[in-house]
Amino acid sequence: MFPLQGARMLQVLEKSLIKGLPASLKVYGTVFHINYGNPFKLKAVVDKWPDFSTVVIRPQEQDMTDDLDHYTNTYQVYTKDPQNAQEFLGSSEVINWKQHFQIQSSQSSLNEVIQNLAATKSYQVKHSENILYMALPTAKRLAPSLLAGKKLSSSGGKPKAIDEDMFKLSSLDITQATFLNKLWYFGGNERSQRFIERCIRSFPSFCLLGPEGTPVSWSIMDQTGETRVAGTLPEYRSQGLVSYIVYKQGLEMEKLGFPVYSHVDKSNKAMQRMSHTLHHIPMPCDWNQWHCIPL
Ligand SMILES: CC(C)(COP(=O)(O)OP(=O)(O)OC[C@H]1O[C@@H](n2cnc3c(N)ncnc32)[C@H](O)[C@@H]1OP(=O)(O)O)[C@@H](O)C(=O)NCCC(=O)NCCS
Repeated sequence: MFPLQGARMLQVLEKSLIKGLPASLKVYGTVFHINYGNPFKLKAVVDKWPDFSTVVIRPQEQDMTDDLDHYTNTYQVYTKDPQNAQEFLGSSEVINWKQHFQIQSSQSSLNEVIQNLAATKSYQVKHSENILYMALPTAKRLAPSLLAGKKLSSSGGKPKAIDEDMFKLSSLDITQATFLNKLWYFGGNERSQRFIERCIRSFPSFCLLGPEGTPVSWSIMDQTGETRVAGTLPEYRSQGLVSYIVYKQGLEMEKLGFPVYSHVDKSNKAMQRMSHTLHHIPMPCDWNQWHCIPL
């Protein structure tokens, strides 16, 4: 295990991960934000350096004090050699195999390794596999070959107009985390609320305020730089609000030079339609999460 310390090494890692796109996307996005201020205080470890095969991005040990907090205890993994990643990922210096945790990766091929490790270490694993998207300007900039043969919608990548007299673009403050947390599919508990608060505190957040002056549609960013936790209140749905927010969020992130990407559940047709309209390009690999719980 080799911890990468210092700006120079992390910049080399970031550049090298671009060559692995799209399979390295989750780790690339996370390392990008480590190099851009590291608001989540994450660290990178590799199996060897500089010619690494596997890289894991994880929180510092001192931030992983709650064994049940899988939102904080999250590891991002990219490997050039899934067949041989098992020993590295099985090491207790790389992953704390005593806690509840999540592994996220753009490589479904890690499933076998993770299931093997879970069996050896007596863990229960829930694997989610969702569609991974990269926004068109990000794909053009970082991985233009992914665009070959892609059919784009005739929308020009823009959402339909909304009533701008009624809805005002704004940002969120952490007091609104309670509200987002109640409606977040993966949330609804105290730990997820803390995670949402940290995301709002660390990154730009976006919402539309409705006639009452409170958020009716929103989207934030997580520690990997992905756009996440998007939603619209039921009474304001199908008016193009989330499409407008995600479009504005993408423009702002591009302006800051951030990579813009997201994932959508395979059954979430509304978000898939929005992604098509906004010229978010589906990647040939998936967004994966393994939620791991000791038995
Ligand atoms: C999914 C959700 C965010 C959509 O918000 P919204 O503001 O209604 O979305 P928009 O009005 O911008 O619509 C986006 C697209 O989905 C379509 N759509 C809206 N509701 C739909 C539905 N129930 N079924 C299928 N398509 C739907 C719209 O027609 C639009 O497509 P178009 O651009 O081709 O016309 C909202 O339903 C929601 O909060 N759901 C629960 C939380 C959730 O799923 N969040 C996303 C997590 S990734």
